[in-house]
This record gives sequence, structure tokens and C-alpha cells, in this order.
Amino acid sequence: MNPIYIDQIEILKRYKPIDNSTHKGIQGHALLIGGSYGKIGAVCLSSKAALKTGCGLVTAFIPKCGYEIVQIFIPEVMVLTDVQEKFISNITFDIVPQSIGIGPGIGQENATQNALHEFFKTNKTPLVIDADALNILSQNKFWLSLLPPKTILTPHPKELERLIGKWDSEDEKFEKTIAFSKKYQLIIVMKGAPTHIIDGDAVYENTTGNAALATAGTGDVLTGMITSLLAQSYEPINAAMLGVYLHGLTADIALPETAYQSFIASDVIANIGNAYL
Ligand code: APR
Ligand code: MG
Repeated sequence: MNPIYIDQIEILKRYKPIDNSTHKGIQGHALLIGGSYGKIGAVCLSSKAALKTGCGLVTAFIPKCGYEIVQIFIPEVMVLTDVQEKFISNITFDIVPQSIGIGPGIGQENATQNALHEFFKTNKTPLVIDADALNILSQNKFWLSLLPPKTILTPHPKELERLIGKWDSEDEKFEKTIAFSKKYQLIIVMKGAPTHIIDGDAVYENTTGNAALATAGTGDVLTGMITSLLAQSYEPINAAMLGVYLHGLTADIALPETAYQSFIASDVIANIGNAYL
């Protein structure tokens, strides 16, 4: 395996500076779908991260119990609610987002599983899938063929194992992930230290990030960041690369000012602006 390193040179080839005459309508609208009772914070983090990564508009689709939580946590985000109080049961909306991120905090209620199936059957919008939405897919692998080509999956190691099965060696893990990526035409962000991105036969290895990221919710933040970049018309592979690179860089930038122990997911969000510089 000869990875392409995701470093500053590689990123600058793909990064698109903001045009001075842009406005929020052309900066892209990202939709984040997730949350369940007790896990609304996951969507708060994803939605705020999406806005801080540069898309013009963000909408969160959540169960009813999260309505005030999201609006108070991040007033710049618009909120749509499911008919159910504590979990998502029917994904319908009248907006036209340029990208959708689904999964943070979504849980695995039966009604949520059915809602995901219905959504996957009709959705054509560029997609990022994370967390329990990945675990639901792992239990219903025939839904994988419903996903738009180049959908981005962001599993942590356990979620990856549920998707592709156990591996005996690092080599086998990569072989299986490459085969999976090719079979379903998906981009796999294998989160870890370091994070690898698989796009068919191409393997990319991130060069930013550190152990400070080993804290609750940093994965939810990454989902928001990649979804935001997709909404800004980045090609899926470039959105995944830039998202992973900036996400890691936030922790590298913050570390001289704080301890590993004290860095939390909200600090990733707070440092996205510095990572862009
Ligand atoms: N070095 C560099 N990066 C790291 C390190 C490390 N030592 N440890 C973690 N990270 C990065 C990963 O690469 C990834 O981007 O932090 C992020 C962690 O993401 P997740 O494992 O998804 O963590 P989290 O956001 O807490 O997940 C929230 O969703 O996936 C479910 O089961 C998960 O309930 C949990 C929830
Ligand atoms: Mg996660």
C-alpha cells in the first residue's frame, strides 16, 4: 500500500478560496439529520461545525425534543422536526440542500431504521453517513446499493468492522475496505490515528491530528465539516480530504495552548477558523 499523504501541498491543490462576491445562497446549504433523546448534542456539534466550515446555510432535522436545544445552542442554524418526540421516524423536508449528513446521535429505533430505508430509496443528494446510520446500514447491507455513487462513510474502527467484517492484519483491513469501496462505489473515511481515506484503489493518509481528538463528539464534528464542504461543491474525495485535514489541524493548533486532557469537541469547532489560515 502506497498512500498519498494528505498534507499542505495536497490540500492546496484542492482548496477553493472564497470568492469575494459570494453570498449565502451560493455558498451551499447543508442538511444534518440526526439526534435522539439524550443525544441531541451530537447534531448540535455537527450543525455548528458545518456552519463554521463555510457553507452558507445549515438546517438540522431532529426529533421534536431537540427543537429548543439546537436553536439555543446555535441560533444561526434552522431547525426542522420529525413528528416523533424522541427519535426520527419519517425524514421529509421541503428544502433543497446541496449535501446531507446523516447519523450523529440518531440511535437505532425500529422506526428510525425504516425512516432511513425510505430516505435511501429516494435520496439523490450528495451524502455523508456516520455513527448509528452506519450501524443500521451494517445490519441491512442490501441498502448499500441504494446510496449515490461517492457517498462518504465515516466509520470509526468498530463501525468499520461492522461494515466489512473482522480482519486479521492491517493489510487485510485495507484489502477488505478497498474491495468494499469498489463494490459499492463509496468513499470510506477510516477514522483513527492516523485516518485513512479509501476511494476505490486510491489510499490517502492524513498527516494532521493528535490524541487530543480522542474525546466524545469529535467524530460528529468531522461529519458536519465534510457535509459543509460537499455543500460548497467540493468533489466528494476533496471534501473528505479537506475535512479530515482541517479537523486534525484544529487539534495541532490548539495543543500549545491547552492540554490533551482538556481539549473537547467544541474546541475543534472553535479552531476551524484558525485551521483555514
Ligand atoms: N489521534 C488522532 N485522531 C484521533 C485519535 C488519536 N489518538 N483518537 C480519535 N481521533 C479522531 C478520529 O480520527 C475521529 O476523527 O477523533 C474522531 C473520533 O470520532 P468517533 O470515534 O466517531 O467519536 P465520537 O464523535 O465520540 O462518536 C460519537 O458516534 O460513532 C458513534 O460510537 C460513537 O457514540 C459515539 C458517537
Ligand atoms: Mg462517531
